[in-house]
Amino acid sequence: MKITISNTAPSQIETECLVVSVVDAAGESKNGDKPKPAPQLQTDDKAVNDAAADLIASGEVTGKMLETTLLHKPAGLKAKRLLLIGGGKAKSFSSYELRKLAGAALRNLKTKNLKSFVIVAPNLASGVPDAVKSIVEGAYVGSFEPNYYQSDREDKQIDELVIAARGNARALNTAAARGRIIGEAQNFTRDLANEPSNKMTPTVMGERAKKMSDEVGLQCEVYGPDKLHELKMGAFWSVSQGSDEEPRLIVMRYEPKNARKKPVLGLVGKGITFDTGGISIKPAEGMEKMKYDMAGGAAMIGAMRAIAQLKPNVRVIGIVCASENMPSGKAQKPGDIQIAMSGKSIEVINTDAEGRLVLADGLHYAKQLGATHLIDAATLTGAVVVALGFVNAGIFSNSDDFCEQFTQSLKKSGEKMWRMPVDDEYREMLKSNIADMMNVGGRWGGAVTAAMFLKEFVGDTPWIHLDIAGVAWMEDQKPWIAKGPSGVPVRSLVEFVQDLASKK
Ligand code: BES
Ligand code: ZN
Ligand code: ZN
Repeated sequence: MKITISNTAPSQIETECLVVSVVDAAGESKNGDKPKPAPQLQTDDKAVNDAAADLIASGEVTGKMLETTLLHKPAGLKAKRLLLIGGGKAKSFSSYELRKLAGAALRNLKTKNLKSFVIVAPNLASGVPDAVKSIVEGAYVGSFEPNYYQSDREDKQIDELVIAARGNARALNTAAARGRIIGEAQNFTRDLANEPSNKMTPTVMGERAKKMSDEVGLQCEVYGPDKLHELKMGAFWSVSQGSDEEPRLIVMRYEPKNARKKPVLGLVGKGITFDTGGISIKPAEGMEKMKYDMAGGAAMIGAMRAIAQLKPNVRVIGIVCASENMPSGKAQKPGDIQIAMSGKSIEVINTDAEGRLVLADGLHYAKQLGATHLIDAATLTGAVVVALGFVNAGIFSNSDDFCEQFTQSLKKSGEKMWRMPVDDEYREMLKSNIADMMNVGGRWGGAVTAAMFLKEFVGDTPWIHLDIAGVAWMEDQKPWIAKGPSGVPVRSLVEFVQDLASKK
């Protein structure tokens, strides 16, 4: 997608379609009645306001979130069409709404076979450059389609996006470039997560990470079973041992020349390319979804890609534990004892709680490679979906400070996450008669006990665990995004690393 900034007045730009956002500036009602909508176009171009005047007067346009109104041959404009799209309440209109609005505009217009459009950047409280960045991110989110393997797949894509914005040209172009890097990284991740398990084996995942690393200048090593044995990654290997596909330990390193020694951020992702449950096998219904059990790993690969391109001045190590979880004559069985790389012993009660096993070794290894701070992302538990549904990812952390810093970045990324507890009391649920711990904690609080298990392997290192089981896959399509992989939490990780680098 070609993206350019134009400082020409929107009414004077020749285009297939001019997209303008509309917000509802109605105040609070005084007598309890619903206030009448007060739609307001997000441009001060008089000709555009005039062209939309009749529509607004008719009451058809209210500014309601993602309400769309298309006008052909708008009077006084050089554009062939005018698309008005709602951004919700004026007061709360922010990059969060704008991203969705831009994605919805793109998805709306591409189904009409348009190849290009112009969108006016609104004057957000966070600044026009932030508006430009959000539009670009939203456009990338909207452009992704998961229907790779349909033989009659039509190539309905927007080739060119023009953003009408006034201000410092350099700042606007930088914002657009950042939006592009982040949007492309998110789609790179969605691309990996979208592939079925026969196309995205651990080996393929390693190859894709390596190829990407070579392209953007990251160091990358991809290891197989021998390295797992050499490192004594007994927990990771126990998951892989039942599969005919070899596991891959993917290690990506971003080491900017003049970066401070500390912090070193370790990003660790669960890369289960298919989770059958193993011997504790899952029911058939819905099992096909377990192809996206590598979404956490895919997010780390995508985040590393953006980091390499944005070049923040902080060191980052990305680790992905890629494996299948299969039943077979070689598979681990309930009751088996595994010794993790850290030396801790684990009684594997349920072979379907495999994500925590691979992450136990991934987190320990990240520390050994020098990570001073850790973030992991994993489609770890069904229980987090019970707790938070498909809206928020779960955040678990052993450090209030580190967690607070991370949640600040969520305001920029617009990804929703909610902090969950990791009190010591929960640790009891993992007690084993025979080993240091069991790999499951029983029926209640399943997302928390999974986090408690990981906590055993991070020690005192500040750590954040993101359980993305409910948010990594869009169960339904939305106006701004297709059904399928979401790419969460790529944007948050990238914003966080940039914030980390800009701190003294
Ligand atoms: N990959 C699953 C978790 C999952 C569930 C991801 C739904 C995406 C959507 C994980 O490996 C798993 O099977 N967890 C078990 C743990 C249980 C055995 C303690 C679960 O949540 O049921
Ligand atoms: Zn599982
Ligand atoms: Zn799993």
